[in-house]
Amino acid sequence: MDIHEVFNDSYTRCNRNPHFMPLFYERFLEKDETFRSMFTHVDMENQMKMIKASLLIIMLAATSEQARATVKKFGKRHGPDGLGIKPLDIDLWFECLIDTIKECDPAYNQSVEQAWRQCFNEGITIMKAECKS
Ligand code: HEM
Repeated sequence: MDIHEVFNDSYTRCNRNPHFMPLFYERFLEKDETFRSMFTHVDMENQMKMIKASLLIIMLAATSEQARATVKKFGKRHGPDGLGIKPLDIDLWFECLIDTIKECDPAYNQSVEQAWRQCFNEGITIMKAECKS
């Protein structure tokens, strides 16, 4: 199986768990009080829907120029002229995602983790570059 299939199957298993996204945000917002304060006025139902859509776009950044351009736009909105997110916050965000997958994917193993990491590498690199000040 290629890494995109491994990722895709894992993502499908995670989404069968209705707590997947809430668990991710719980974990992420616990990391830093400033993160939590940034989300106090955000509609979290809506946010979780947007993140689900953006996860797929980030993943597609590895192979599609159009997806890379969209991720760049996400990055700009988060960077110094937007929300002021730092590159290290993006790393933390991704590690929280990996930890949540560990919790929600019943077939999680090292190759599943590697597939997520490889599929997201390009997209995360773009997000971090846009968040550099
Ligand atoms: C690769 C990582 C990330 C992705 C793909 C991502 C994606 C998104 C998307 C698609 C939106 C909604 C559309 C928009 O308004 O731009 C959004 C909103 C937001 N993101 Fe992120 N994000 C990431 C990391 C982070 C991090 C590390 C933080 C740190 C706190 C953060 C904080 C926010 C906030 C506060 C909003 C809501 C803005 C508002 O509606 O007022 N994001 N994110």
